[in-house]
Amino acid sequence: MTALALVVLAAGMGTRMKSATPKVLHKIAGRAMLGHVLHAGKALGAQKAVVIHGPDMAAVRNEAMGVIASCEFAEQTERLGTGHAVAMAKQALAGFKGTVLVLYGDVPLVKADTLKALLSKLDSKRKMAVLGFEAADPHGYGRLITKGKDVLDIREQLDAKPAERKIKLCNSGIIAIDNDLLWALIPKLSNKNAKGEFYLTDLVKLANKAKTKVALALCPEIEVAGVNDRNQLSVLEREFQREARRAAMSQGATLIDPDTVYFSADTKLGQDVVIEPNVFFGPGVSVGDDVEILANSHLEGTSIAKGARIGPFARLRPGAEIGEKVHIGNFVEVKKARIGKGAKANHLSYIGDAIVGAGSNIGAGTITCNYDGYEKHLTDIGENVFVGSNSSLVAPVKIGAGANIAASSVITTDVPEDALAITRAPSKIIDGWAKRYRAARAAAKAAKQKS
Ligand code: UD1
Ligand code: CA
Repeated sequence: MTALALVVLAAGMGTRMKSATPKVLHKIAGRAMLGHVLHAGKALGAQKAVVIHGPDMAAVRNEAMGVIASCEFAEQTERLGTGHAVAMAKQALAGFKGTVLVLYGDVPLVKADTLKALLSKLDSKRKMAVLGFEAADPHGYGRLITKGKDVLDIREQLDAKPAERKIKLCNSGIIAIDNDLLWALIPKLSNKNAKGEFYLTDLVKLANKAKTKVALALCPEIEVAGVNDRNQLSVLEREFQREARRAAMSQGATLIDPDTVYFSADTKLGQDVVIEPNVFFGPGVSVGDDVEILANSHLEGTSIAKGARIGPFARLRPGAEIGEKVHIGNFVEVKKARIGKGAKANHLSYIGDAIVGAGSNIGAGTITCNYDGYEKHLTDIGENVFVGSNSSLVAPVKIGAGANIAASSVITTDVPEDALAITRAPSKIIDGWAKRYRAARAAAKAAKQKS
């Protein structure tokens, strides 16, 4: 197999995004657009990746290295065209033997399978291939001038003659090209065109002149749609979610109302998972088999083991590790806490920075007081502990296995195994007090009204 290098153009700030964040870092399904592109490239087994960014884009570098640790970078300081942007990768690709795949940080939905199909068009006669699409409205795109299955040239909108403007077969911008051919042709690009830019698309004409054919692969328009503003971002988000829902169902999850469930790009679901309406998966959630996630739950950075039941109205935050057959009920928030097998927290609780042993029961209204205003502390609850309702567990604190916390207690010291801890005032009964109280108050009110 030929070696593969990615060149990803990510220089644009995206002024129409109206944002302090570089365009390619805006997210779809919880993942930066640049991340989507690099993940697709990584899935192809690329040996090298070069991201072309603008000035001062440390955040872009960090995002890229989070996906491909060995990613290299080059800066495009002046925006002189797509050909000029790719030329910035010269040093990084010096001596590389193989194929270069040019991708765009603001074209996030392109699928690895589509890119594979593009690469498969390359052979000894075709050292370059272009990814094209049939545009519903071709205005603004480069048109593909083809002959049979090959591409002869690409004509940009502003340079196209009226007859050429009628062509609906358009250039996505994504190309695959042999590295040696790329660097033989790049110096030949000129900026004598309507935009005064060095067009990457002119490589097609130059390749044909250099006696190699240029192949064509096609894909659906939506896969190569770019993002220039936040409306377009939302259109691609919707498309991503539609696909993610379909994938979840075809892999064995039941979504009662799919249109109301939102996934992240990295959500993992087991088999026979049932998801009720209005459930949101933030980044980093993995769900085991036979888990039920009831309506209106919000999850992120969480793992849920087989057979657990979450919600309705549950909030699972980063670091929540939910064990097998655990029940997390309504208005329960769990953060950075390991909940052991079969444990239950069914109502109105905050469990943060905690360990809850297997089989324990966390009563309604239980709060782990994890924060003292300066630092977070651990609440360590053993197995088969019973925490009575409305208890406050002031961390750091350890509750031994089998212990029982009486309702409404404020626990500030460790509790030994199998002990009872109770901190509330004892009940006191005064016979007939309420009846006498009512009589006295009623009489006082009547006397006032008379006078
Ligand atoms: C480009 C293609 C066009 C194709 C269209 C698909 C060229 C000359 N034209 O046109 O055939 O149909 O994309 O959307 O390539 N960029 C840089 N540095 C630059 C210029 C551009 O990084 O100096 C990046 C942009 O940020 C963007 C991409 O390259 O991600 C495309 O640039 P853009 O100016 O939008 O090209 P189009 O005119 O849309
Ligand atoms: Ca564009």
